[in-house]
Amino acid sequence: MVKASVYIATSLDGFIARPDGALDWLNGWQASAQDGDYGYQAFMDSVDVIVIGRATFETVLSFGQWPYAKKVVVLSSRPAPDLPLLAQEQIEWLGLAPRALVDHLAAQGAQHLYVDGGKTVQGFLNAGLIDDIILTRIPILIGAGIPLFGAVTHDIRLHAIETRQFDSGMVQTRYCCVKRET
Ligand SMILES: NC(=O)c1ccc[n+]([C@@H]2O[C@H](COP(=O)([O-])OP(=O)(O)OC[C@H]3O[C@@H](n4cnc5c(N)ncnc54)[C@H](OP(=O)(O)O)[C@@H]3O)[C@@H](O)[C@H]2O)c1
Repeated sequence: MVKASVYIATSLDGFIARPDGALDWLNGWQASAQDGDYGYQAFMDSVDVIVIGRATFETVLSFGQWPYAKKVVVLSSRPAPDLPLLAQEQIEWLGLAPRALVDHLAAQGAQHLYVDGGKTVQGFLNAGLIDDIILTRIPILIGAGIPLFGAVTHDIRLHAIETRQFDSGMVQTRYCCVKRET
């Protein structure tokens, strides 16, 4: 069984980026020693494949330095562009629906996916393929932007498992998705 998790930060009003994709509002929060890295490295250590949407891929590329040391799948309906040399070996560029992608990765031995990017997360949620969501809410209202959540094809129930409040003001909750009876 492949597990799929989301680890993501939103503004208090639910956005993952400004309308133009800017992430400036995520910067400048003073983390204390207790805050650490908000559990990011422990989470990253637990995953073996990162699945990102094409828009998130473009943002990551703009950082100038490829940040992942794991296999990355970029989802897109477009043909693959020339990928940066450093990342070439790690990236698989695919246009598969979430279920087909999970089956494809399971056949390769994948065990734990990190699913990232708003539309991508929404696609996996609607397909009933997300197991848990680690959601860090940043105490800021940005008024407009790219939403984490969107239209759903059915109600999706979640259980709040744990909530941590950090000195920076961020509040992180881990939710487990309740799987639908099929
Ligand atoms: N706050 C945070 O923690 C956080 C985390 C991640 C990302 N972000 C930000 O969020 C923004 C991107 O989010 P987003 O919602 O716009 O997009 P996204 O999910 O990153 O990318 C959307 C694109 O992914 C492709 N895609 C997704 N599922 C697909 C599927 N099953 N089959 C084929 N293609 C698929 C499509 O690309 P094509 O159009 O090429 O077909 C779609 O337009 C960026 O600004 C990024 O920096 C923020």
